[in-house]
Amino acid sequence: MPLLDRGLFWLSLVLGPCASLGSAVWGNNTKDALNVLLIIVDDLRLSLGCYGDKLIKSPNIDQLASHSLLFQNAFAQQAVCAPSRVSFLTGRRPDTTRLYDFNSYWRVQAGNFSTIPQYFKENGYVTMSVGKVFHPGISSNHSDDSPYSWSVPPYHPSSEKYENTKTCRGPDGELHANLICPVDMADIPEGTLPDKQSTKQAIRLLEKMKTSASPFFLAVGYHKPHIPFRYPKEFQKLYPLENITLAPDPQVPAGLPPVAYNPWMDIRLREDIQDLNLSVPYGPIPVDFQRKIRQSYFASVSYLDTQVGHLLSALDDFHLANSTIVAFTSDHGWSLGEHGEWAKYSNFDVATHVPLMFYVPRRTALLPEAGKKLFPYIDPFDPASELMEPGQQVVDLVELVSLFPTLTGLAGLHVPPRCPIPSFHVELCREGQSLLKHFRFQDLEEDLTLHDNPHESIAYSQYPRPADYPQWNSDKPSLKDIKVMGYSIRTIDYRYTVWVGFNPHEFLANFSDVHAGELYFVDSDPFQDHNMYNDSQGGDLQSLIPWVVPTTKGV
Ligand SMILES: *[C@@H]1O[C@H](CO)[C@@H](O)[C@H](O)[C@H]1NC(C)=O
Ligand SMILES: *[C@@H]1O[C@H](CO)[C@@H](O)[C@H](O)[C@H]1NC(C)=O
Ligand SMILES: *[C@@H]1O[C@H](CO)[C@@H](O)[C@H](O)[C@H]1NC(C)=O
Ligand SMILES: *[C@@H]1O[C@H](CO)[C@@H](O)[C@H](O)[C@H]1NC(C)=O
Ligand SMILES: *[C@@H]1O[C@H](CO)[C@@H](O)[C@H](O)[C@H]1NC(C)=O
Ligand SMILES: *[C@@H]1O[C@H](CO)[C@@H](O)[C@H](O)[C@H]1NC(C)=O
Ligand SMILES: *[C@@H]1O[C@H](CO)[C@@H](O)[C@H](O)[C@H]1NC(C)=O
Ligand SMILES: *[C@@H]1O[C@H](CO)[C@@H](O)[C@H](O)[C@H]1NC(C)=O
Repeated sequence: MPLLDRGLFWLSLVLGPCASLGSAVWGNNTKDALNVLLIIVDDLRLSLGCYGDKLIKSPNIDQLASHSLLFQNAFAQQAVCAPSRVSFLTGRRPDTTRLYDFNSYWRVQAGNFSTIPQYFKENGYVTMSVGKVFHPGISSNHSDDSPYSWSVPPYHPSSEKYENTKTCRGPDGELHANLICPVDMADIPEGTLPDKQSTKQAIRLLEKMKTSASPFFLAVGYHKPHIPFRYPKEFQKLYPLENITLAPDPQVPAGLPPVAYNPWMDIRLREDIQDLNLSVPYGPIPVDFQRKIRQSYFASVSYLDTQVGHLLSALDDFHLANSTIVAFTSDHGWSLGEHGEWAKYSNFDVATHVPLMFYVPRRTALLPEAGKKLFPYIDPFDPASELMEPGQQVVDLVELVSLFPTLTGLAGLHVPPRCPIPSFHVELCREGQSLLKHFRFQDLEEDLTLHDNPHESIAYSQYPRPADYPQWNSDKPSLKDIKVMGYSIRTIDYRYTVWVGFNPHEFLANFSDVHAGELYFVDSDPFQDHNMYNDSQGGDLQSLIPWVVPTTKGV
């Protein structure tokens, strides 16, 4: 196969049938327009009760799930914050935003692409950002893409600046910059935490919007469970250490190509990890400490859950639950010891698989009787807080890049057209598929073909590397240092990844220059530890991945 423009190669695979509801459902009357509350969590894998994790106490998110359409198989396009966020907020893949690192602004580097909030703003919405929505820094022009995306200046919690400072009291009584950082609220600067401040600010904004003539789009970006695990210490009690298991596969798999491994350099910078004298790049972390990391990740998730609970409860209190779509997702996952890794930065499911659910008033749930709440706050410490039945679920493979057409469609706005290939010159279009066909609107006039066939759906992810072997910058290579790109597809049956040569100056992938490959079967190897790539090459592989054939011939 000759050198391919990956844009063409990549995008030609994802075009499928799509349903556009247009404004047919809710009309074009701003008075009737639905508001949108988009909750974006940082580094949240599927460690949630509603995704079947029996250990995790996440009653408020589970309650949201019980009233939502939940996507069981949703995947991020690149498992690192800025590229993932810019991708789903613009509705374009990293190959189109040309952001694989943290160091450029798409409007300058790639094209003047519209964003989800910008589009809502241009359609009469008041758009607001609280916390970490766009990644801070140059990737959003040091302004969270203001003024284009937001009607009012984005809010950042003041206590955010302490996240990486010495605020964790260690056993020696001194303050350290640790990975594991359960805090006494009375003992920390400002007496508060970023996510608590963000919740308060979001509630203040909701209260203001209660009487607004215009609909609103409010994005709330929570910081936890991103490292450091800095959370109110009582949440540790939900997870006694003796009940914490190790990852099911805590070893680096024998058949893992070195290029696929990420050496999790960032946690090694924390003082408590430095004290462990770990060897680079493979570790391992002592098992007692592995349990502690897992315990603190889970505690951070439960703390996050309480913040989501307070926010949704306020939505109810302000009588906005009957007029507000709630979308909940995360930028990517995190490996908690699986494959001997402790970070995102890979193409494995633990890093790319994300929660995704949508609550749509009267569509995914009936409204409660007068005087009853849809989202009453649930205390995770209350022993009566039992696991809630999930609502409707979709098993088809879906992608975060689909948020743009899906949210606009659910809100009754005109769904932006599909992007041509390439689309650098087109300001408004989207690469993802609308997920509207999965919402079974009974009263819909349009004829939608409701054919669910999980075997037809594919989710794409990718990850760049600076070298074939793990080195200091393997987790987060700068654009100019990228030498290999791992393109990965996930179907309901398998994950298939090829690591190919990549030219960062021309943004070209060379599919004739294969450095390594991975193939994992979901049924026989759910944790992705047995690489079948070498066994499957040739005819077998091609029959497994039929799209390789026509694409090769077409180029
Ligand atoms: C209303 O209709 C106009 C004109 O067709 C369109 O440009 C706009 O996006 C619509 N706005 C909403 C809120 O649906
Ligand atoms: C980019 O898009 C924004 C929002 O539509 C617009 O205000 C701006 O003028 C555009 N910039 C360029 C260089 O086209
Ligand atoms: C980025 O921000 C700077 C400073 O606010 C501004 O001058 C510049 O126009 C912005 N870039 C774009 C592409 O809007
Ligand atoms: C810990 O595990 C034991 C034994 O499985 C169980 O009885 C107990 O309820 C667990 N504790 C918590 C807090 O989950
Ligand atoms: C697959 O083949 C390559 C090249 O011969 C080899 O380096 C690698 O170790 C093999 N991987 C597995 C899992 O057998
Ligand atoms: C790490 O190395 C330092 C200096 O060599 C030593 O004092 C310390 O005991 C070691 N810690 C562990 C946990 O091995
Ligand atoms: C939502 O409920 C409030 C209070 O019950 C009511 O005033 C309002 O009209 C309702 N909005 C919609 C869109 O049903
Ligand atoms: C692509 O890779 C092949 C195999 O390594 C090599 O022969 C070819 O020169 C490469 N093409 C470019 C444009 O780098």
